[in-house]
Amino acid sequence: MIPTRDEAFSLLRKHNSDESHIRHAAAVEGTMRHFARKMGGDENLWGAAGILHDIDWEKTMDDPARHCNLAPELLREAGVDESLIHAVQSHGWGICSDVEPENDMEKVLFAIDELTGLVITAGLVRPSKSLADLEVKSVKKKWKDKTFARGVDRDVIQKGAERMGVPLDEVIQETILALRPIEKEIGLGLRDEANGGP
Ligand SMILES: [Fe+2]
Repeated sequence: MIPTRDEAFSLLRKHNSDESHIRHAAAVEGTMRHFARKMGGDENLWGAAGILHDIDWEKTMDDPARHCNLAPELLREAGVDESLIHAVQSHGWGICSDVEPENDMEKVLFAIDELTGLVITAGLVRPSKSLADLEVKSVKKKWKDKTFARGVDRDVIQKGAERMGVPLDEVIQETILALRPIEKEIGLGLRDEANGGP
């Protein structure tokens, strides 16, 4: 089956409890939905791939080589469709899996998983702590600074954009646009509420 949004989040929460992982899933989901709308994909399916892509994260933290490899078991026992299982495995292509991203949904997931982290961190260090005024050129500046968000693998993102056949700047731009409407849900744009004003 293809889970609904609520079903996918329940399944994710069944195996993960850290809210930062849930926020990451929501960020990747929002970005996947944005690209689905743009590229004519099934928004619910692409969104579910985003929500579930790291489902085995907390259960494989002690053994990162198992990341992407335990996921099929967790998804199959929940009756999730094989197309989603393939997508989940392919997001770790060349890192923890040899399953290649083949269709548009898988290529986008591979490209934007790490990119959402870079874009969000670039937003968080702005005075506004928001994506509202974040531009591609500022993300590109952070891209070149290897000490910034050092956990984000720039090579994977580059490889993903190439596989999508879309210029990197455009993928970054679309990811910013995708995340802006959901920034509060994923922990951004909260300066006013948190600090009582600018
Ligand atoms: Fe991820």
